[in-house]
Amino acid sequence: AKTGTPQHFLDLDVLPASELRSMLDTSLALKKTGKLKGQAKPLAGKTLAMIFEKPSTRTRVSFEMGMKRLGGEVVIMERESSQLGRGETVADTARVLSRYVDCIMVRTTKETKLLELAQYATVPVINGLTDRTHPCQLMADVMTFEEHRGPIKGKRIAWSGDGNNMATSWIHAAVRFDFELNIACPESLTPPQDVLDWAKREGGKVMVCTDPDAAVRGADCVVTDTWVSMGDEDTSNRHNLLKAFQVDDRLMSVAQPDAIFMHCLPAHRGEEVTASVIDGPQSVVWDEAENRLHAQQGILLWCLGAI
Ligand code: CP
Ligand code: NVA
Repeated sequence: AKTGTPQHFLDLDVLPASELRSMLDTSLALKKTGKLKGQAKPLAGKTLAMIFEKPSTRTRVSFEMGMKRLGGEVVIMERESSQLGRGETVADTARVLSRYVDCIMVRTTKETKLLELAQYATVPVINGLTDRTHPCQLMADVMTFEEHRGPIKGKRIAWSGDGNNMATSWIHAAVRFDFELNIACPESLTPPQDVLDWAKREGGKVMVCTDPDAAVRGADCVVTDTWVSMGDEDTSNRHNLLKAFQVDDRLMSVAQPDAIFMHCLPAHRGEEVTASVIDGPQSVVWDEAENRLHAQQGILLWCLGAI
């Protein structure tokens, strides 16, 4: 076993802004040149294990392709086809995988499982989404915003929809990258109070309201996400609660004329966003999805001590 605390990528609120910025700079450089300081395969000989307790398209394929582009290898483990599905503990899984691989990415339900994995792993652990947050997506989102609109610092981002894991990671990002975040959501779907309290303590410019127009007015970017996140399938009434928060052409017209639209995907046209917006000229969702591939590489290189 290795000694010392591994460089986990667990959440944006527990990482310094300077480290996040250096991951993004690396991602951008790799996107442009395909190389890290002239090196084409900086992760040759390294292996990433990915544990999935929920479905994934983007996270799975972008991490796999990102790792391969850097010269590394990938092993995929799914809950149902592994001993996790038969009750082997997360702690034991962490100790065993640490003897085989150099880094572990996990997509899971409760945040406590992510933290348990990080506690017992002797290799870096990456949060590939939990019920509470989705930090890898935010790295791609900040990168996408900046490619289209320049530095995000001081800009106004508006969220209209469920105060879910993505909304929480947007709050973390607003503090770490110093932008304004206006969130409109139904009162019963407000992001967790402890996250809002944290943002306040950190001096973040985060506003929460129930009026999409108030949130979106003058925004440089409008963001939303599915009304039914993985694990929320059996909670009724979400569609009624969220109907008024749909991002449509009228809501987009309240934002800056050159505002962009972002969505982590998968999308549900006619629910959280209309087809006219997500398939329209202000949408940058395909660049956003592509940037997952580049952002993952910055995260991997940072976790593995290569930047
Ligand atoms: N945005 C995102 O994480 O997509 P997947 O669920 O397909 O990984
Ligand atoms: N909020 C969504 C994001 C999917 C990438 C979910 O958790 O299902």
